[in-house]
Amino acid sequence: MQKNVYVETLGCQMNKSDTERILGMLSNIGYKLVEDEKKADLLIINTCNIRQLSSDKAYSQLGFWHKLKKNKPSLKICMCGCVAQQDKELVRQRAPYVDLVFGTLNIPALPELIKRIENGEKIVCVEKKPISRDLEDSNIIRAKSLNAWIPVIDGCDYFCTYCVVPYVRGRQRSRNWDLIIKEAYDVAKQGYKEITLLGQTVDSYGRDLNNPNINLANLLRELSKIDEILRIRFVTSYPTDISDELIETVAEIDKVCEYFHIPMQSGSNVVLKNMKRRYTREEYIDICKKIRSKVENVTITSDFIVGFPGETQQQFEETLSVIDEAQLDYSNTAAYSPRKQTPAATWRDKFIPNEIKKERLAILNKKVKESSRISNLKYIGKNLEVLVEEQKKENAENIFTGRTRNNKVVHFEGDKNLIGTLVNVKMLEALDWCLKGEIIN
Ligand code: SAH
Ligand code: SF4
Ligand code: F3S
Repeated sequence: MQKNVYVETLGCQMNKSDTERILGMLSNIGYKLVEDEKKADLLIINTCNIRQLSSDKAYSQLGFWHKLKKNKPSLKICMCGCVAQQDKELVRQRAPYVDLVFGTLNIPALPELIKRIENGEKIVCVEKKPISRDLEDSNIIRAKSLNAWIPVIDGCDYFCTYCVVPYVRGRQRSRNWDLIIKEAYDVAKQGYKEITLLGQTVDSYGRDLNNPNINLANLLRELSKIDEILRIRFVTSYPTDISDELIETVAEIDKVCEYFHIPMQSGSNVVLKNMKRRYTREEYIDICKKIRSKVENVTITSDFIVGFPGETQQQFEETLSVIDEAQLDYSNTAAYSPRKQTPAATWRDKFIPNEIKKERLAILNKKVKESSRISNLKYIGKNLEVLVEEQKKENAENIFTGRTRNNKVVHFEGDKNLIGTLVNVKMLEALDWCLKGEIIN
């Protein structure tokens, strides 16, 4: 009998990619994805644990679903992802109506677990050791129709003092080379035009595989041989793992887009050291300069945390100034949030009061907005190649959106037939977060 599943996914692209694989496995055992949670027999929340706010969101969603379950007792509720991996039994203590809690390291076990909860069991299945994911991916239900996410490395070995990722995703594990290549040929056959390789430290790809030929640069070169794939991207880069070979590959290989996402986290050397980031402000700036000197029209984006324990006003201002100095095109920002198991969470005497964190975040956001506009202004009057992605929903006119190779969002007048094709767009107007232009022939 066919059953319906509804999924809510929080967090990064890694989680979104996991959801696509989870849905594939569920479809193999008879579940169909629905958009309306009231029509579902199974509700799944794939959670993020990066900040307190993310984890709170997961629990409040469960609370809402509890109400649905009261009206429909056969409804099964399942929590997975990065909160599940850390909280384990605690999830069922806080929300006893949850039927299944499963972690990030044992996704392949899911079909079996679902069958057991269908028979009335309540299960917490959070393994410490990852089950090999190499066999799982025969069916993937992807969220997008042009851009396919392909995970290449999971977990992280860096243990930055604020970050929960190594605790909820485990040690760094590169995926098998052949499986990645096979997946890329599969998506090409299915009509995808762009692939994005995913990893928390994507430029470490291959480091754990003991084969000097297996690295991100070689992987990009190999993937660029797939005819139907027009563009290749990769996120997220760790500053000191970006090899010269990788930069040269981005510069040389046409299909590899001129875009690096390189979180810096702070512009202050003292804070960077306390965060256990493995580079200085000066080194980070040098890496950006090197990339800009070799890769024309490159976009470099970053992430920053404000209010890290002990951060002084002056150290915060160093974060503001590095945005100009490194000429960053855009940055994600966050106020520091203490996470369980991480060292920085124990430095209570150095915590920055919430009001100051909020104030710094607002100032930083203003700076980022400025930097993004300045970056967009550089392209006024230029012609850039755009992959047409979709019609802008909110208006009836023929306005379409797409992205440039260097990951700028562009709005322009177009036609449905152009979706999935590359067009040349002349940039006419720079807004804070995107550009407006017109298609030229
Ligand atoms: N692997 C990437 C980042 C992954 S987490 C890297 O090494 O940079 C995504 C972003 O969340 C981080 O870049 C950081 O800016 C933010 N973040 C992580 N832990 C956080 C915390 N405890 N409080 C606030 N922001 C955090
Ligand atoms: Fe977290 Fe640091 Fe690993 Fe990035 S490199 S995932 S911030 S521990
Ligand atoms: Fe969040 Fe887990 Fe990604 S904690 S940011 S969903 S790896």
